[in-house]
Amino acid sequence: MAFETIIVDIGDHVALITLNRPDALNALNAALLGELAQAIREAGENDKVRSIVITGSDKAFAAGADISEMASKSFVDMFTSDYMGTQTRDLLNCRKPIIAAVAGYALGGGCELAMMCDFIIAADTAKFGQPEINLGVVAGIGGSQRLTRFVGKSKAMDMHLTGRFMDADEAERSGLVSRVVPAKKLKDEALACAGKIAEKSQIATMAVKEAVNRSYETTLSEGLLFERRLFHALFATEDQAEGMAAFIEKREAQFRDK
Ligand code: HXC
Repeated sequence: MAFETIIVDIGDHVALITLNRPDALNALNAALLGELAQAIREAGENDKVRSIVITGSDKAFAAGADISEMASKSFVDMFTSDYMGTQTRDLLNCRKPIIAAVAGYALGGGCELAMMCDFIIAADTAKFGQPEINLGVVAGIGGSQRLTRFVGKSKAMDMHLTGRFMDADEAERSGLVSRVVPAKKLKDEALACAGKIAEKSQIATMAVKEAVNRSYETTLSEGLLFERRLFHALFATEDQAEGMAAFIEKREAQFRDK
């Protein structure tokens, strides 16, 4: 299906989703988030797709939730529609790895969307922020919870209370992004990274997502047990036998997701 606010390119094994509301710096409105949720669902169901990249434009990954759309809403509107809750759950439910490739502004909901992905690759032009305080509100799709886990309480409070932006260097120093690359190379680097992930056993990549995400939800001892059981369970797969045999035979592994 053709989308109006995003562009989806399905490559060899990678789905590239480009947010495409250039006139509004990719502000997230209900239409865009609905289309993004649908594209993620479809990528999840498409056997050809093994990893996903979400990106924006050179100027903005996304400058936040769409302020024009929200401005006249009431508490009842927001609460009864569970504003942006449903769509973001689709993204979070995806079992395939999702990389956010961020250039320019990733503010408010844009920063939150990037943090919902499995990891963030930033261009040297990236600017992250949670400026909702300037609008008289707080983050609404995870910013107060996820940013705090990424960068710690002190910096998260600073960002949320002052609304200041963090540049790419600070974001990398603080653990918000996994790497910073020159802006011109962002898309290629993110696609190459997603392509590298696509070569792995999909059983193992799904297990990695579950294990790392579990670390946010549980105690250390329960998380360690969860990881150990996953590790043990993967010895029931052909991909484990293939991966280890390939190492011993000094050749590339041919994973078959079995
Ligand atoms: C709607 C937006 C927008 C937004 C930018 N635009 N951000 N429209 N919602 N979040 C629009 C502008 O109105 C303008 O449209 C066009 O995009 C270009 O923006 P400018 O402001 O002219 O660009 P610039 O001067 O370069 O400034 C860039 C900027 C600024 C610093 C990013 O646009 C800005 O501060 N935007 C708002 C950032 C923000 O507060 N985000 C948090 C939103 S609340 P026109 O038609 O005038 O050309 C949020 C809550 C999340 O995200 C919770 C989710 C449920």
